[in-house]
Amino acid sequence: MIPATVTRKDFLSVLDFDATDLERCLRLAAQVKADRTLGRLAPTAETLSGRHVAMLFDKPSLRTRTTFEIAIRELGGHLVALQPDVALGRREPVADVARNLERWVDAVIIRTFSQDVLQEFAAAAPRLHVVNALTDQEHPCQALADVLTLQEHFGLLRGRTIAYVGDGNNVATSLTHAAAMLGVHVHVASPEPYQLPHAVVQQATSVARHGARLRLFSDAADAVAGADAVYTDTWTSMGQETEADIRRRVLAPYQVNDELMALARPGALFMHCLPAHRGDEVTADVFESDVSVVFDQAENRLHGQKALLLMLLAGRGADFGLRMAVD
Ligand code: CP
Ligand code: NVA
Repeated sequence: MIPATVTRKDFLSVLDFDATDLERCLRLAAQVKADRTLGRLAPTAETLSGRHVAMLFDKPSLRTRTTFEIAIRELGGHLVALQPDVALGRREPVADVARNLERWVDAVIIRTFSQDVLQEFAAAAPRLHVVNALTDQEHPCQALADVLTLQEHFGLLRGRTIAYVGDGNNVATSLTHAAAMLGVHVHVASPEPYQLPHAVVQQATSVARHGARLRLFSDAADAVAGADAVYTDTWTSMGQETEADIRRRVLAPYQVNDELMALARPGALFMHCLPAHRGDEVTADVFESDVSVVFDQAENRLHGQKALLLMLLAGRGADFGLRMAVD
């Protein structure tokens, strides 16, 4: 047995994990997924007993909110569902909210706009675990589910290629971080105004392992050629609604349709974090096709986040009686 926990306080970014943490998280996620049929007899069913986890969402959510709520309950923890009227940073300083919550709960899961606000929150409360449930810049919990889904379909991920087509946004950023760490080549195709930020390219390059390469393209067809999976996300993220018209015009050549999928490897997977907009970033045909694994991704949000909570919150050295192979 090896300890499955990490000493990191927060998960604000995939980059808060190193490659070993990420690989352990994936193994733990696969384990808790398999154990789910055991219900209350699962080895982790009481791991968070007596622990409180708060959630605060400044933006809408279906998947993230629901899967964290179930994860906390299935690990024996207690959920505190904070209301948006907490008005993070507007009713009282961000640091004050964090220092209050630190006195009551063990962890806070936050969906908000600015990554800087999340960092300020986490820095103000040294005993409080903080998890990023999506910011404008990153969506690391989504990336856990994405790489878990890829692993389920491909087994060993090293040397595979994923093509992300469209807006170089929060989902693209966290996917790029995670894929590079796991040795997956990443091709990103975006129009000039919506490219992956340069800082993300540098970060991914510095954490890349096993020869993983990140390549940026302006042409979707070039990015997708030979890829094992094709990923896209909405062209207009939450908070960008006033830009929807211009984004739709500029991003139109990046729609994932049958013609584009035909350029990928035969049987290449189609991936999307959801919610999806049929007729914009993806056609209904591709979304509903046999290679679409979007609901596997959605399911894996639960298992990935359960593993994450275990790694952050279980006592140092805990192994949960799990079958974690030594690296
Ligand atoms: N993919 C995702 O994060 O979905 P929600 O916005 O519904 O949480
Ligand atoms: N990029 C999207 C992801 C939604 C899960 C957004 O930020 O709205």
